[in-house]
Amino acid sequence: MELVPLGPGFGVEVRGVSVLDVASDGDAYKAVRAAFEEHSLLLFRDQPIADDVQVAYSRAFGPLELTKVASVGAGSFYSRLTNLDANGAIVPPDHRQVLIAQANALWHTDSSFKQTPALASVLTARVLPGAGGDTEFTSTRRAWDRLPADLQARLKDAVATHSYANSRDQIHPDLANAEERKALPPVRWRLNWRNPVNGRRALYVASHAYAIDGMDDRDARQLLAQLLDDATRPEFVYVHKWRQGDVLMWDNRAMLHRGRPWDYSRERSMIRTTISATDADGLSEVKPPVVH
Ligand code: OGA
Ligand code: MN
Repeated sequence: MELVPLGPGFGVEVRGVSVLDVASDGDAYKAVRAAFEEHSLLLFRDQPIADDVQVAYSRAFGPLELTKVASVGAGSFYSRLTNLDANGAIVPPDHRQVLIAQANALWHTDSSFKQTPALASVLTARVLPGAGGDTEFTSTRRAWDRLPADLQARLKDAVATHSYANSRDQIHPDLANAEERKALPPVRWRLNWRNPVNGRRALYVASHAYAIDGMDDRDARQLLAQLLDDATRPEFVYVHKWRQGDVLMWDNRAMLHRGRPWDYSRERSMIRTTISATDADGLSEVKPPVVH
């Protein structure tokens, strides 16, 4: 296995090991898992791209998340990010599926709004629009390391509230529908996630986060916006330009990402599988203390 650096201080392209190797060979899995823990973002190029291959690769890392209600692929392992409707026609620009793409363009980490957040996401490109539609990443581990010591000390045990509606409301007040609001009540997480393998902390923020325990709401929103801005300054960002055959996997404990716009009259179809975090991934540490 060869690892070729990708982004500013994070991310590698994995060569010499395929996603199928990872799915079927314990040693290949162990080597790739170690690279994932260390580098947070993995790229495999020229891979076989099929739903069952993607699932076989993903499930080596842990339990798979089911796609939430009201998403394309709800109740399956696949989250389908597409601007085609069920009949295969391009949706109009004000359609819910385009608004969802616009919400994905806010810096976020996947599933921080769920009862069980995500360890990792695996994304493959099925149809690319020809231009635009890049995906951008930044390391919240690097962002944490850049914070002044007094702010780190303040944030070490701070707890933020995340909700799906908070990020969707920034795009359109009806984007999160009644079913989603009911199924996805707000959840609370520590503002940093310590990697149990190497002990490195990462800032745990997202467009889904909006409040901090014990802090005035306006001050909390301002601080969260400041933390997101600092984490995502252009010099800290890796821009992924998709090629057919790419498989990207990122650590949702230590990365922020966003999708970039494209010409929505052209098809862009991506499929994501998502691995849930378990206690072995540090889930118990990101859980806030129980208040009696
Ligand atoms: C995702 C996501 C952005 C994109 O799959 O979780 O945010 O570029 N995707 O499609
Ligand atoms: Mn995402």
